[in-house]
Amino acid sequence: MSGQTNTTQGNQIARALAERRLIVVCGSGGVGKTTTSAALACAAAQQGRKVLVLTIDPARRLASALGLSELDNEPRKVSSSLFRAQGLVMKGKGELWAMMLDTKRTFDDVIRRYAPRPELAEQILGNLIYQQVSDALAGTQEYMAMEQLYELTRDDKYDLIVVDTPPTQHALDFLDAPERMMNVLDSGVVKLVWGGARKVGKSYLSWLRRSTKVVASLFERITGGELFGDMAEFFQAFDELYAGIRDRSNEVKQMLKSDQTLFFLVTSPAPSSMQESQYFLGKIAGYGVTLGGIIVNRVHRLTDGTVPVEGALPEAKLIIDCLVKTQDSMVKDLRLKTLIDELLAAWQSYAAMASHDQHQIERLTAGHSAQVMQVPYFDSDIHDLQGLNRLGGYLLTPKSYG
Ligand SMILES: Nc1ncnc2c1ncn2[C@@H]1O[C@H](COP(=O)(O)OP(=O)(O)O)[C@@H](O)[C@H]1O
Ligand SMILES: [Mg+2]
Repeated sequence: MSGQTNTTQGNQIARALAERRLIVVCGSGGVGKTTTSAALACAAAQQGRKVLVLTIDPARRLASALGLSELDNEPRKVSSSLFRAQGLVMKGKGELWAMMLDTKRTFDDVIRRYAPRPELAEQILGNLIYQQVSDALAGTQEYMAMEQLYELTRDDKYDLIVVDTPPTQHALDFLDAPERMMNVLDSGVVKLVWGGARKVGKSYLSWLRRSTKVVASLFERITGGELFGDMAEFFQAFDELYAGIRDRSNEVKQMLKSDQTLFFLVTSPAPSSMQESQYFLGKIAGYGVTLGGIIVNRVHRLTDGTVPVEGALPEAKLIIDCLVKTQDSMVKDLRLKTLIDELLAAWQSYAAMASHDQHQIERLTAGHSAQVMQVPYFDSDIHDLQGLNRLGGYLLTPKSYG
């Protein structure tokens, strides 16, 4: 990849941060999505935009650096004095807000907001089954991220919202969240229970008891009796919210596909992560959302571009050879000789990792027009504004490697 291409990419990401209203950061678990989302938001805020980053599972130190000490579903403003204290300048009206997604509380809010009658909302919220399944249903977290997004984008409080996505095995889960949520509610066991409840109403309970007598009595013994009654009541009550959920799902989908939104895929150079990214790239195209670029995070790199990767190893050897010759008497010292050998071996294995990473990146991007940005493996975790700013620097003005 040439430095020239990277520079163009830098401008493109800067443009996205300046112009878009919604940026979605996705990728498989552990690759750096949350950190990247925060870094992008931090960069846009410094450029003068009012930005909210919706994080899903920030590492504790990052969360506290952003002023998120508790999960309260409320956006919190990151104090501008914190930026100043870390030597960072915020242009114009720039503001950084951050929040953590609280799945359960968002679900409660959805029920309160969309239940056609307040009594129905209370009925669902107080239901034993709801309390048990509300954060355990497959896709709930992804779906609630969508719901939260829907609410946040409805008013114009923020110029830009950067959304981190849940740490799902397949990044695709997030895109399909509304459908998956609907499918869970409308299929399989749930449909049997729910559908049954719809069809036969109160007599359903006795029907269920008759037809699954053994299981029922076992369940009732375990749960203390009212499980099936609660279940039927829950799905019956939920039925009335169904249309609302479907409508909002469609609206969220439209928003994700609109030109206000840009997706970024974060990956690591590890083959497993690359493989998932490959799969995701195929799916993202099919889904019809716009990919702003691929961010390859935690890349082993040898130099900042002044020496090509393949040239770095011989060059290092040359330097060490020189050292060996000029410091001949010192090198006779066995300890120094051992040290130089170890240094060379470490250098060699790092060089192998660096060229492996470049090879992986080339494979991922071959035949793709997607923009690629590389972020090096930092020597420590990224847990403060300065660290985010450093990461953002690689995204906005990427250096060329190798
Ligand atoms: N380029 C990097 N160099 C070093 N550490 C990193 C880098 N990017 C992320 N990290 C660290 O990796 C860990 C996981 O990152 P995180 O953003 O929480 O991943 P994800 O949200 O994809 O699960 C965090 O401790 C973070 O500080
Ligand atoms: Mg995360």
